[in-house]
Amino acid sequence: MDEKQSRELTILGFAGSLRRGSYNRALLRALQEETPPGMRLEVFEIDGVPLYNEDVESAGEPEGVARFKEAIRAADGVIVVTPEYNHGVPGVTKNAIDWASRPPHQSPLDGKPVAILGASPGITGTARGQSQLRQAFEFTNSYCMPQPEILVYRAHEKFDAEGRLTDAKTREFLGKFLTAFEQWVRRLQP
Ligand SMILES: Cc1cc2nc3c(=O)[nH]c(=O)nc-3n(C[C@H](O)[C@H](O)[C@H](O)COP(=O)(O)O)c2cc1C
Repeated sequence: MDEKQSRELTILGFAGSLRRGSYNRALLRALQEETPPGMRLEVFEIDGVPLYNEDVESAGEPEGVARFKEAIRAADGVIVVTPEYNHGVPGVTKNAIDWASRPPHQSPLDGKPVAILGASPGITGTARGQSQLRQAFEFTNSYCMPQPEILVYRAHEKFDAEGRLTDAKTREFLGKFLTAFEQWVRRLQP
């Protein structure tokens, strides 16, 4: 196995919810527990990323944005765990991606392998939000993993009161998802 195939990958994960009891942040923690040996998943909290404003950006990136972009740049891949709001991508998720997408063609998202998953108490499990997010990653020129998809529906039945994933089937899917993402990232290594 050559160095490219064996080196430990650094993956950055962030959740598109600021809620303390967020199912999506809980799902991200469960992903961390399931990472395969060749991968380290670091969690980034996006609560320090302000609302996008081009005037602010022109005057100099806020510290929270600079840290976010540097963390993406340093990572081999990015995992976004997001809720769905009103059949779309929540503003919090999209706002963070909008900051990270700058400047176009030279942003830390350009050419970056990404993966999307999400959890919702509803029965569609963020399906529409995930599709919409894939469109955004077309413009950022990010390589969004097509399959497998993870849609955690009826999330309130799959986590305990402490936010620990209790559903064995979902946990098994997370392992498969991460193994697939590891292969996706290694395939796209420069
Ligand atoms: C403004 C708003 C819009 C929502 N729209 C949807 C929706 O379109 N589809 C869905 O499945 N859930 C929707 N929900 C419910 C969220 O899936 C639910 O609040 C979820 O727990 C949010 O994710 P979190 O637990 O990670 O914070 C919505 C919630 C809010 C607050």
